[in-house]
Amino acid sequence: MQLVIDSANIEAVKELSQYLPIDGVTTNPSIIVKEKKEFLSLLREIRHVIGEEKELFVQTISEKAEDIVQEAHYICNTISGNLLVKVPVTIEGIKAIRMLKEDGIRTLGTTVYTPMSALLAAKAGAEYVAPYVNRIDNLTGTGRNVVSDIVQIFKANNLPCKVLAASFKNVQQIQDVFLADVDGITASPELIKEIFNHPSVERDVKKFREEWLEQYGIESNSLISTI
Ligand code: E4P
Repeated sequence: MQLVIDSANIEAVKELSQYLPIDGVTTNPSIIVKEKKEFLSLLREIRHVIGEEKELFVQTISEKAEDIVQEAHYICNTISGNLLVKVPVTIEGIKAIRMLKEDGIRTLGTTVYTPMSALLAAKAGAEYVAPYVNRIDNLTGTGRNVVSDIVQIFKANNLPCKVLAASFKNVQQIQDVFLADVDGITASPELIKEIFNHPSVERDVKKFREEWLEQYGIESNSLISTI
């Protein structure tokens, strides 16, 4: 199971990486422009924060396959470490994914709204696909069903492509896709933090602590240091 941060905000990536078993960072053009920084140095900074081994996903913006391929090579030559290029699953994107596979460049097929586009990206050689759960929910489909169908189709066709579900607006959507057997999810730092946000946990921890202090009057670690 992979837990990926969908953000280019350095402080947020730094903070979450300190606490959680994060597997990588996904970006897209909208996420990058939000930071209002020079994009290459921003990507290098993210790489520095997460280290060379974790996966960093960078999206192309070109429309024609040949341009996407050129852009992908540029990204790979400029950003170090474990890198994947996100390619939108258009007809040109599918062609680019095939060409990049031949060049040994790893790709993620993004902007996936249907099981059939995921299937095509996987057959073209994408290592991952990213179905857009919330954006599907906002239309007439059901994101978790699309994700579940993709997982089934990949299994039935023995396709090694991984499903990294993306585009979430609440924790229920994340839980739903894990039940559908995805390989991982990518979500905003704010939403990842919401996973822990249950008022009962805070209440329980507070009560445990109060009861302990009432009886012993000291912190448990000071108790240990006196042994
Ligand atoms: C990640 O790969 C996608 O770019 C991203 O999750 C889209 O999310 P959004 O629908 O919240 O913008």
